[in-house]
Amino acid sequence: MDYLKINSVKSLNGKIQISGAKNASLPLIAMTILAKNSVNIKNLPHVADINTLIKLLSNLGADCKFLDDRVTIDTKPLHETKATYDIVKTMRASILVLGPILARFGHCEVSLPGGCAIGQRPIDLHLKALEQMGAKIEIKSGYIQATTPNGLKGCDINFDKITVTGTANIVMAAVLADGVTSISNAAREPEVVQLCEVLNANGAKIEGIGTAVLTIYGTGGKLIDIKEFSIIPDRIEAGTYLCAGAITRSEVTLTHVEPKHLGAVISKLEEMGSKFSITEDTITIHPSQNIKPVKITTQEYPAFPTDMQAQFLALATQADGVSIIEEKLFENRFMHVSELQRMGADISLNGHTATVNGKAKLCGTDVMATDLRASSALVLAALIADGETNIHRIYHLDRGYDSLEKKLEGVGANIKRLSE
Ligand code: UD1
Repeated sequence: MDYLKINSVKSLNGKIQISGAKNASLPLIAMTILAKNSVNIKNLPHVADINTLIKLLSNLGADCKFLDDRVTIDTKPLHETKATYDIVKTMRASILVLGPILARFGHCEVSLPGGCAIGQRPIDLHLKALEQMGAKIEIKSGYIQATTPNGLKGCDINFDKITVTGTANIVMAAVLADGVTSISNAAREPEVVQLCEVLNANGAKIEGIGTAVLTIYGTGGKLIDIKEFSIIPDRIEAGTYLCAGAITRSEVTLTHVEPKHLGAVISKLEEMGSKFSITEDTITIHPSQNIKPVKITTQEYPAFPTDMQAQFLALATQADGVSIIEEKLFENRFMHVSELQRMGADISLNGHTATVNGKAKLCGTDVMATDLRASSALVLAALIADGETNIHRIYHLDRGYDSLEKKLEGVGANIKRLSE
């Protein structure tokens, strides 16, 4: 198994190119199930989750050719409709194939994803919405078994909670359904917006993109022609490297980035004392001597993202004063706290709220990655911890960060990937 060995450095300096967004790529790869043609997708990140979804589509019979940051997916030969446990257990987002497969073939089986390190993460809202559209759903032997005896029909769906992959799943199902589907309390994340925009650019009709109410006019089962498109930049990867600049008090420039997607992250970093120069597709963070404490509550987009909570918690350990970080989306998303404490951080946890007493002197040691974003928080802490930090179980990190050690090494970090 690989691990990362990181020694602290005085500061970082240079440019980091941001990769395509993992969370935009996943629904857009699943979307190829709605296409009648072979689809080219550009600017995919090199991360394990993308390989997993492409493997899932290949197992179902699709013809996938993945080279560098491009994939060509032809779902014409797709004939299997069962997403088996061996794949789904490695990536919960496999559930994204349920909506499009069901809409196209009238039946689909997906293994129940089960629990996850950051919380229960149920998929009840996906299933309830599909049932409203006319699907018959049974849970048998750990599998969701869905059929559409009378096809999928457009209807009014109101999500009790905002769900990102739930919205994507229902949008894709609704594109092939009969009639008009309206989704209220829809997710407004840029990744959902890109899915809707790509669909609209290719013959689907979706209104309200980027708002909480989406109206989707179904094609009545007609597959669509999808032209080549490019994945939007990864706002969470970008936010993580901005935190790397802030925690090491360095000047770092991100390129190929979309500053508009990082409003809440940049504004929290500004509150903490960081200064920025921003162009259309670059962000430079300038060194600041003192890091100020902060109050953060994670919420759905456009508010502060839960996927940046762990990284800001690591940064808050270096603030002069007390920071309060409240996690509103996932019940168990503080696994990184005990590892940061082992490095010397002073953090107390009370339910969904972490109180971080800064500034703590962090010391390198052996730590364990527990989930994707928790892993990057440990990397940030290691960049400034005294001595050497070894981060184990980095397969979590590899699920969502493209070439992290190469990108950080490129700006002067002392970081190596080794095998144990
Ligand atoms: C997506 C992102 C993930 C991010 C999360 C929240 C992808 C591949 N993953 O995950 O990185 O952390 O959004 O921004 O895009 N919920 C239910 N029932 C459901 C669905 C969700 O109760 O059927 C709850 C969840 O437990 C959670 C909240 O709704 O508390 C939001 O979850 P959701 O937006 O669905 O997260 P994901 O789409 O899985």
